Amino acid sequence: MLHSSSTYAFSDSAEFAAASRAKVGSGYVYSRWANPTVDAFEAAVAGLEGSNGAEAFSSGMGAISSIMLALCSSGDRVVAAKQLYGNTYSLLSERLPRYGITTNWFDLVDHAGIRSALPGAKLLYCETISNPRVQVPDLAKLAELAGEQGLPLVVDNTFASPILCRPLEHGASVVVHSATKFLGGHHDLLGGVVCADAEILEAVAAVGRDFGPSLAPFNAWLALRGIATLPLRVERSCDSALRIAGALEDHEEVDAVYYPALASDPSNALADRLLGGRGGGTLGFDVAGGRDRAAAFQDSLRLITPASSLGGTHSLIVHAASATHTQLSADELRSAGISEGFCRLSVGLEDPDDLLDDLTAALENP
Ligand SMILES: Cc1ncc(COP(=O)(O)O)c(C=O)c1O
Repeated sequence: MLHSSSTYAFSDSAEFAAASRAKVGSGYVYSRWANPTVDAFEAAVAGLEGSNGAEAFSSGMGAISSIMLALCSSGDRVVAAKQLYGNTYSLLSERLPRYGITTNWFDLVDHAGIRSALPGAKLLYCETISNPRVQVPDLAKLAELAGEQGLPLVVDNTFASPILCRPLEHGASVVVHSATKFLGGHHDLLGGVVCADAEILEAVAAVGRDFGPSLAPFNAWLALRGIATLPLRVERSCDSALRIAGALEDHEEVDAVYYPALASDPSNALADRLLGGRGGGTLGFDVAGGRDRAAAFQDSLRLITPASSLGGTHSLIVHAASATHTQLSADELRSAGISEGFCRLSVGLEDPDDLLDDLTAALENP
């Protein structure tokens, strides 16, 4: 049910005063603190991730920055896998240093480097399936390394969704989602959510109350609608993505395909362990011929839409060098493992034959 109220009435001033002192936990006072529809969304995600509770935010970045501000203060340090979503990368590498919070970066397979940087840090951060190159970290190993120092492993589970992976079961302490993606699932809302134990969650919620990136009740209601079909959508996207990844692997206009469920992919063994052998709804591939050829390929698509975002009903494609990573030089792209022809495809719910026809026609007649 959608409760769109921003505020709540009380029968007398004593009740109002008591609820205001408590702010949360004794009824509803003001929707930046708590709202019944947002609470229902939080309970649904907590159930999916197997956590005791969840706290919702206005976007994935609202959730991620609230975690950072809750767990770190000026002078503190984060250790992060360098394979991250672009705005998470800029939050950690540009924004937070202005507030005295710095980050040590490591390749997600560099366990020795990560172990050496953890003493004295505040948290370890990674994504279950990294954006955009869809690499899978060894979550249990990273949780073990963080645990040796008594630190939380924070995992962005956006790409996998709790249908493929529940990071808390692999030792993570905090799970975060951009609910804009698979949880919402229809490209019609922005949202974020954090799952953790009560102590961390209260610290994260307090940041949310003071900074104010609360999830709008209508977006929580839309996200609940999305969650109702989450398993079906994830299953369909995974099936179609695997089929497309396999076909592109054999296509002469494609230099390389990145998809964890492919036997040839370096993340394949980890996908077996962490994702039940599934690869998620997103794949990457290098169009042969580089930047111009990839841009022309993208322009020739008729069914698949060039657009940011992923995890929704419709298939979306991003040519990294000309869209999401324009600020990087050719060298910087290379060192981030992103070729000039790299495209990220989020596979939606369309007929996979239609998607393959569209991709093949655009590859062959860009
Ligand atoms: C893995 C990942 N985490 C976080 C975000 C940020 O989410 P939002 O756009 O909802 O702020 C994104 C957005 O694309 C993402 O892909």
